Amino acid sequence: MELLKDKFGRKFPYIRLSITDVCNFKCGYCLPNGYKIDKGDPRKFLSKEEIKRLATALSELGVSKIRLTGGEPTIRKDFYEIVKILKQNSGIKKTVITTNGYKLDKFAEQLVESGLDGINISIDSLNKDKFHKITGHDRLNEILNGIEKLQKLNFKNIKINAVLLKGVNSYTKDFEVWADYLKSNQIDFRYIELMQTGDNLEYFKKYHISSKIFINYLNENNWIIQTLGRDSGPSKNYINSEFKGKFGVIAPYSRDFCKSCNRLRITSRGDLRLCLFGNTGINIRHLIQRDDQTEELKDLILKQLHFKKESHYLELGETGLTNNLSVTGG
Ligand code: 5AD
Ligand code: SF4
Repeated sequence: MELLKDKFGRKFPYIRLSITDVCNFKCGYCLPNGYKIDKGDPRKFLSKEEIKRLATALSELGVSKIRLTGGEPTIRKDFYEIVKILKQNSGIKKTVITTNGYKLDKFAEQLVESGLDGINISIDSLNKDKFHKITGHDRLNEILNGIEKLQKLNFKNIKINAVLLKGVNSYTKDFEVWADYLKSNQIDFRYIELMQTGDNLEYFKKYHISSKIFINYLNENNWIIQTLGRDSGPSKNYINSEFKGKFGVIAPYSRDFCKSCNRLRITSRGDLRLCLFGNTGINIRHLIQRDDQTEELKDLILKQLHFKKESHYLELGETGLTNNLSVTGG
């Protein structure tokens, strides 16, 4: 079996697959005016059948984990069917999702039943008003209730992501609120540094702050960095024996960030993206129309991987094809 590996020796056991661009939230850094249909792009989102063929080919290329993202992936009516297909029929070992969690309290049981292996929930602040201000929605309580339900059902792999925003959730007070939460919750909480995208330059200028401020807090409060496994991806994790949960930091502007890149992305309309901020995005949809196209699809993906660059050029303000992360799911 030929496996996905690039010119720089990086391996790609992990695919992030967007299944819809639609989102019901209005996060200031992503879709400040809410989701708008792209009239210039009438293509439908990938169907269940297309997703199944894609996943089968990917598993034959050594991909062991698929993350379903959006937009908001749980908006799709066939979302649970898609999870089941991936779990039962595709050869992919782990299926996880990234969600804003807005339906979690109603669907926790269904999620656990679907066989899902992990969930990342975006919560930018545990303060109700700040949460509302950032996302445009007043759903924090429902989301936290949903997490409690998952925990009661003994669902283990729960992560929470927050985008670090200067003057909004970047104060020591904010870090302490999260630390308090991690005392008793076996959850990984990660701050992601705000990234510049094609659409959000003004927002970026106003709210971007280096994650050093948070790393300093961790160092001053006895959090110890975990040594990284070879394929462990870009989050740096910190542990502290007095806490059930872990802290983590994702700092895309840091030196060497791209060295640990272990993922490729596929958009909801079947464009393969080698890098979140790259300029290449070739469509692979024509090769997931029939079951007998698997070999051809595998060949195309392997060839494309040769074009993957060593690093992004974000520090130069080059955001590539990414206007906002609702198309590529972060
Ligand atoms: N910078 C950093 N993170 C972002 N996300 C969305 N847009 C950005 C951005 N510009 C995050 C969301 C969610 C994940 C899908 O990506 O908050 O956690
Ligand atoms: Fe929706 Fe996620 Fe974008 Fe927020 S960051 S608007 S939840 S797609």
